[in-house]
Amino acid sequence: MPRFLAAKPDADLIRLPWQLPLADWPTQHLVALPRGISRHVVRFLQVGDDILAAKEILEEVAVQEYRLLTELKRLGVPSVEPVGVVLGRVDAEGNPLDPVLLTRHLPFSLPYRSLFYPGVKHETVNRLLDAMVVLFARLHLTGFYWGDVSLSNILFRRDAGEFAAYLVDAETGELHDQLTDGQREHDLQIARTNLYGEFLDLEAGGILDPSLDPEWLVNTIEDRYHQLWAELTGVEEFDESELYRLEGRVRRLNALGFDVAEIDVDASPDGRTIRMRPKVVDAGHHTRRLMRLTGLDAEEHQARRLLNDMDTFRAKAAPGSPESVAAHKWLVEVFEPAVNQIPAHLRGKRDAAQFFHELLDYRWYQSQRENREVSTWDAAQGYIDEILTQLPDEQLGDLQRFVGGGELRNKYDPSQGYVDDEPEEKPYDPWEDEANDPDIPVMQGFDINALRAKAAAKKKG
Ligand SMILES: Nc1ncnc2c1ncn2[C@@H]1O[C@H](COP(=O)(O)OP(=O)(O)O)[C@@H](O)[C@H]1O
Ligand SMILES: [Mg+2]
Repeated sequence: MPRFLAAKPDADLIRLPWQLPLADWPTQHLVALPRGISRHVVRFLQVGDDILAAKEILEEVAVQEYRLLTELKRLGVPSVEPVGVVLGRVDAEGNPLDPVLLTRHLPFSLPYRSLFYPGVKHETVNRLLDAMVVLFARLHLTGFYWGDVSLSNILFRRDAGEFAAYLVDAETGELHDQLTDGQREHDLQIARTNLYGEFLDLEAGGILDPSLDPEWLVNTIEDRYHQLWAELTGVEEFDESELYRLEGRVRRLNALGFDVAEIDVDASPDGRTIRMRPKVVDAGHHTRRLMRLTGLDAEEHQARRLLNDMDTFRAKAAPGSPESVAAHKWLVEVFEPAVNQIPAHLRGKRDAAQFFHELLDYRWYQSQRENREVSTWDAAQGYIDEILTQLPDEQLGDLQRFVGGGELRNKYDPSQGYVDDEPEEKPYDPWEDEANDPDIPVMQGFDINALRAKAAAKKKG
């Protein structure tokens, strides 16, 4: 009987076939979903109404990752939610099996491979890079050293016209009170190496649009990270006549989605120059305001969009009323009636906040087209009929789009490639393929170039 380390153990979990290696689990327990490349065996499980990600991993690391993910959740960093660790597994012959780390499948999440495709718009790529940089800076602000930033370790969710990035793999992470500049730079270098390798892989697989250059992509990420970090933490000096710059700084940070809880301000002894540095910044400025006013949980850009609609509504339909009253009125008269129009079978296409954001765009186009004011309720009907029905299902991802057509050899493990592929054409997965190679240090600072050189040599010989 295995042991379960979990905050809320679930009876359905205990009944699963833990005595089998994860790779051999019968498909009745599995769900086919897109995922990134992984070092370990990873499968998605259906447990009651939940979908969990299960990863077979060494004991020390499993417990450590579980604890880190729990900490990150507590600190409010966007990351996958830990469910538990299954320890002390043995097979039918009594041989020990590695523990399994369980996390909740992040709903509406998209792995990068379903977002990078030939012809992907530059803007989309830019937005993905921005989301990644924001996640990276947020992690560093909380003192988290990742040690393994890579596209496969990030999940993306739609956030209005932008994306929100989530951490999915905390195995190599360390939580400190605060990171030194050296630690941050080191993390950034690891990111550079890993991301460069992944972009090269995408390029080699014909997935990266030819106009996107791996070198340019990683340089952009590095530059944007430094810009954001400077805005979040940099010292500004100005003279006493320029006090408005204090407020300007706060506004710029708000616009980036950050709140300033504390600011360090000190004046030079002669009182002529003032030095200012934000001390405590928290992400989620608009998310928190929306949550406070309506109880709705949305990503940052979605929240901003919903709040704008709410503010406009307040000016028109409830002028002069307190913000909280107007917010409630907007929620029950505008937001909920629109969202409730989505028929049950279309609910998996978009989550409520994203639907509402797209609906606002639609309402704007419709009113332009018809040269009249269109109500949100009417627009919702049009949007559902014309657009939503056509969209791919994203609640559980869209496996077909992810794998780019063809029949998968194993639909529960996209890294095994397609049925029609020649055996040697199997997509090269340096993580899983080489996981058991004793020559390669897999855990810390593994070297993607070494793996690639090795695979290339193997192909030749
Ligand atoms: N909770 C989750 N929700 C959605 N996808 C997940 C989740 N956990 C893992 N995945 C997918 O599985 C992949 C591998 O998981 P990861 O923890 O990175 O394993 P490894 O340590 O082997 O790299 C990820 O790239 C991601 O696409
Ligand atoms: Mg990983």
